[in-house]
Amino acid sequence: MPTPADVDDFVCAAAIPEAAQMRPILDRNAAAGLPAIDVSPAQGKFLAVLARSIGARRVLEVGTLGGYSTIWLARAVGESGEVVTLEYDPLHAATARANVDAAGVGARVDIRVGAALDSLPGLTGPFDLVFIDADKENNANYVRAALGLARPGALIIVDNVVREGAVADAASTDPRILASREVIELLGTEPRLEATVLQTTGAKGWDGFAIAVVTGA
Ligand code: SAH
Ligand code: DHB
Ligand code: MG
Repeated sequence: MPTPADVDDFVCAAAIPEAAQMRPILDRNAAAGLPAIDVSPAQGKFLAVLARSIGARRVLEVGTLGGYSTIWLARAVGESGEVVTLEYDPLHAATARANVDAAGVGARVDIRVGAALDSLPGLTGPFDLVFIDADKENNANYVRAALGLARPGALIIVDNVVREGAVADAASTDPRILASREVIELLGTEPRLEATVLQTTGAKGWDGFAIAVVTGA
């Protein structure tokens, strides 16, 4: 019986040639001792397809790690585009710098080293897409900051909001799960956002993205 990971393997082989090209990035991350918590190749392509579908030119990412998702987004914004990405771990940021340069997109990637909540007030919008994938406890703070930086029509995407279904456990006391519930409730009540959550499976197990569009209301 095929598994979700088998499906990812087939999809990558059949439809995502970039996945093989980008494999050396994941190898460099592993060599540097970074945790393997990057988006999967199919998820990275999903972010790139979303960015392309709205013609995104300026992207903000919260949580760089080794730059794997950054590079998917940087490829999608094209040569005249820009990705600003926030990372507080200097080793992660240095690894990401090496990776974006090796991928040939270094000139369009601005890596800001520091706690994201410290870097966000210094950023100038508008951004067309914001990808939030850092410390989950601050997800609602990141969405509120994104609202101040995103143009009407922009997408705000939050990674890891499902966590093997734990988000549906109203009795959870895990701060990360409480934060996932809080951010989804914020997306549901904030009048300037229209949102959904898309559950995912595949190479990375059962998780999901929250996806919201800024309505400008
Ligand atoms: N987006 C990446 C994965 C990010 S993993 C990818 O898919 O390839 C989460 C990252 O957020 C880690 O590198 C971690 O160091 C960083 N991080 C955690 N808390 C942070 C904070 N408060 N400010 C900035 N970065 C943070
Ligand atoms: C973790 C963080 C992530 O951003 C992710 O996509 C998967 C796992 C984690 O901290 O465990
Ligand atoms: Mg993530």
